[in-house]
Amino acid sequence: MQEIKVTLSTALKQKPQDESQLGFGRIFTDHMFLMNYEKGRGWYDPRIVPYGDFSMDPAAMVFHYGQAIFEGTKCYRRQDGGLQLFRPEENLARMSRSAERMAMPHLDEETALAGLKKLVDIEKDWVPHQDGTSLYIRPTMIALDAQLGVHASHKYLFYIILSPVGAYYKEGLKPVGIYVEDSYVRAVRGGVGFTKCAGNYAASILAGDIAEKKGYAQVLWLDGVEQKYVEEVGSMNMMFAYGNKIVTPMLNGSILPGITRKSVLQLAAQLGYEVEEKRIAIEDVFEDIKDGRCTEAFGTGTAAVISPVGELCWKDEKVVLGDGSIGPVAQKLYDTLTGIQYGRLPDENGWIVKL
Ligand code: COI
Repeated sequence: MQEIKVTLSTALKQKPQDESQLGFGRIFTDHMFLMNYEKGRGWYDPRIVPYGDFSMDPAAMVFHYGQAIFEGTKCYRRQDGGLQLFRPEENLARMSRSAERMAMPHLDEETALAGLKKLVDIEKDWVPHQDGTSLYIRPTMIALDAQLGVHASHKYLFYIILSPVGAYYKEGLKPVGIYVEDSYVRAVRGGVGFTKCAGNYAASILAGDIAEKKGYAQVLWLDGVEQKYVEEVGSMNMMFAYGNKIVTPMLNGSILPGITRKSVLQLAAQLGYEVEEKRIAIEDVFEDIKDGRCTEAFGTGTAAVISPVGELCWKDEKVVLGDGSIGPVAQKLYDTLTGIQYGRLPDENGWIVKL
């Protein structure tokens, strides 16, 4: 592991007073972690510096060809005041997998994890206290070469910024409405759908805006070939409960292999639910909701945690799930997952990294 140089800020910001108003990703802490990469030299100069603007060449490749990937993980405050991370090494390993697909360098995961922990330690007073809040951690990698030929960059910047956050959806744990997108697609086989590349999110914004104007929180993407099968909701993977059984789209290369998804599937099996990963036709979901077999729908994600879905709209047909409050399966999984993340329940799977 490389040594991390620290330069502390001399002008600390005021921390948010009202933690019930944090929202998501609007406030940033006093410091950030940076590390550079150059082909032939590898990752070098890991450092923590005051949070601030970057100065970059307007020709930097990230601005033109979008070699940009990111991650999202969180630091949680336990009731005894101690801090803990949830499977951060999984995020960094996934970032290296995203990097490989985007012709970007494999991350120095060991130094990145050490930098992440040191940064959070320096910013420990920024980790909020209120139930449901956390310090969101956003590792990012961008291409720096100033040249307009379409090739992989030789220089990259990896950085981590931190943001104290509340619930991702303003609805909190109240079920959200989701619009099933039947025109645009998010990803296709052989593409970059499984990566956390910035372009996947850029491509989703138009459909998201249209859905929002129709009164829906987000878009549910269908497969990019037949537009028949459920994929994911950009900021979360989808799960459906059929009584005691939980089904979710199998990983097929075009949906994000969510760390919350994987953790929830493992917890669900440990809690005695039957779990199935399979191809799920949206038509079947609608039929199953209408005849009462599908009892709940919810999304899973680092930012979204477990977010119940109370309404789905597909080609102007609407189906309603539940009674306007979170269902028992989503509630049980939410309580178990957040219980582990906030240290209220034992961490039997070895997922927690205490700071
Ligand atoms: C996360 O859940 O951490 C994500 O990266 C989703 C994001 C688009 C808010």
